[in-house]
Amino acid sequence: PIEVPKRIIEKLPELEIDDGKKKVTVFFGTQTGTAEGFAKAIAEEAKARYEKATFRVVDMDDYAADDDEYEEKFKKETMALFFLATYGDGEPTDNAARFYKWFAEEHEGGEDSFKNLQYGVFGLGNRQYEHFNKVAKVVDDMLLERGGKRLVPVGLGDDDQCIEDDFTAWKEELWPTLDNLLRDEDDTTVATPYTASVSEYRVVILDPLDANVDEKKRQNGNGNAVVDAQHPVRANVAVRRELHTPASDRSCTHLEFDISGTGIAYETGDHVGVYCENLSDTVEEAERILGLSPDTYFSVHTDDEDGKPLGGSSLPPPFSPCTLRTALTKYADVLSSPKKSALLALAAHASDPSEADRLRHLASPAGKDEYAEWVIASQRSLLEVMAEFPSAKPPIGVFFASVAPRLQPRYYSISSSPRSRERLVPEFLLGEALYRFVTHPSYTMMSPSRIHVTCALVHDKMPTGRIHKGVCSTWMKNSTPFEKSQDCSWAPVFVRQSNFRLPADNKVPIIMIGPGTGLAPFRGFLQERLALKEEGAELGPSVLFFGCRNRQVDYIYEDELNHFVNGGALSELIVAFSREGPTKEYVQHKMMEKASDIWNMISQGAYVYVCGDAKGMARDVHRTLHTILQEQGSLDNSKTESMVKNLQMTGRYLRDVW
Ligand code: 2AM
Repeated sequence: PIEVPKRIIEKLPELEIDDGKKKVTVFFGTQTGTAEGFAKAIAEEAKARYEKATFRVVDMDDYAADDDEYEEKFKKETMALFFLATYGDGEPTDNAARFYKWFAEEHEGGEDSFKNLQYGVFGLGNRQYEHFNKVAKVVDDMLLERGGKRLVPVGLGDDDQCIEDDFTAWKEELWPTLDNLLRDEDDTTVATPYTASVSEYRVVILDPLDANVDEKKRQNGNGNAVVDAQHPVRANVAVRRELHTPASDRSCTHLEFDISGTGIAYETGDHVGVYCENLSDTVEEAERILGLSPDTYFSVHTDDEDGKPLGGSSLPPPFSPCTLRTALTKYADVLSSPKKSALLALAAHASDPSEADRLRHLASPAGKDEYAEWVIASQRSLLEVMAEFPSAKPPIGVFFASVAPRLQPRYYSISSSPRSRERLVPEFLLGEALYRFVTHPSYTMMSPSRIHVTCALVHDKMPTGRIHKGVCSTWMKNSTPFEKSQDCSWAPVFVRQSNFRLPADNKVPIIMIGPGTGLAPFRGFLQERLALKEEGAELGPSVLFFGCRNRQVDYIYEDELNHFVNGGALSELIVAFSREGPTKEYVQHKMMEKASDIWNMISQGAYVYVCGDAKGMARDVHRTLHTILQEQGSLDNSKTESMVKNLQMTGRYLRDVW
């Protein structure tokens, strides 16, 4: 055999092999894995359909190292499909952020820079949000403007309904066009209907005696140079407090993660990602339903015994060896509604044929309405669905690959600032009962070694009568801080950067609007401003609009907010109480009362920040801001529009909404 120098072997995957086949790239921008799943599924199906083409699935982040490489590589693409999710305030996913910035803002190349590209875009979004599928729409429009040839109208997947159906419909629209382009004219064979196989991990059952040792070993460090969503680090819960008074029928937790020694750093305004665990009740129910021993110690693999990747290639990344109980606790999302693909996987393992038939029916086009009603509208959880089909017992490898999606990290706006000075809490003041008397910030520990979270408890009654307990908020509420016990709670965490930042110039005025837990990042802002003030900095005027139901019940951090006013960090604190008087008072009503002040501040260059609920509050506040600018500036509608746009474009109107 000829010796091939190693350098060349390494180069091989990069070489474009001209096998005469059309090369199609399938890009995905994914946060929770849905866009990635669709990208892999369509590539799989297309491979089976078109012999004359190759389909390569690419994570947007892995495609190019920098803008120049994006530029260079895109020039060579001739056919591409894009699966792009939109998040928060019309933003791309983390893994598409760099591409999107390059594409939407920095790419220069005029009208026909994509003239060789035939493309299709499918978006993943939620119609309840203002910027529904913004990322997909922008990419689709701009590709066309720059000479690209659109193969199919942009797909607007709506996660509020059944996004799998939207994907199927979009695919059906795309196939005829691809048939024309990727098949020989004389090829008249009808495409054989494609049925996706149920993907499954190869599972190796291990010696349970190793379980304890292995799991202990993994608790420290992440073994990786960077800390990110794939490589979180362990952070102990240092402090936990209830922020509502006992009169409240709801709950809001103040939690402090200790990040000393973890290597994590953060900036005021960033988000923290938290990997939480399912409640033990939930895990036990899952164990019962699966009918497997919770102590089974196993590993999952995406390749066969010979190291060849398993067919389907759409397997989620494997997790380290653990017991079934641990895997159900940490990795399985069993409280969301099952996807249709999960129903098909269950059907494949249902021993009762009538159950298998019904599961297949629910996942089929004929069962569309029933699925929409029985699963989606009733918000039936995976566990509830499985309980209705007792004969469906998927093995471990199927359950974790195709039935239960991976439990996702939850993101919180950090409610502290790393710049605030450390203050020690006298130990005798730490008892929970005394908390109401010690919320004064002089007693609060604030330092770069802490990440504070302000988290409202999710506790809702579902249409089926099930009480849905939010996985992470319940975990936080029940967590044990190390001020109470050495054996404290901890979670894998990481920091996600945001663009929610104070102006670089401290003298620039700021307007903050954040009802409920939307207050979180502003508490960080104000801690930072207080620290700056104490260092002698000159601060511009600031106003905070906060809203809650009732002063006696859910006015969170009241003492601290007053302290910020007294300390000169906050010029004006305006609070709307929605359930004290005969009519609702919301932050936007208070804004209207202060219309001329807001106008003056904005005229002087103020930054406007909004944080909190995107579906109701942020939308209403946006309208109010529009009205204020229009009335105070005596502007017509289009002038007002362009003023708001301008504030957005120049980074002076920032929103952190969910
Ligand atoms: P409500 O619950 O009485 O309706 C924090 O959640 C505060 O935001 C509460 O006082 C809540 O009032 C209020 N809120 C609810 N919907 C809102 C909206 N669309 N705009 C502004 N505030 C809202």
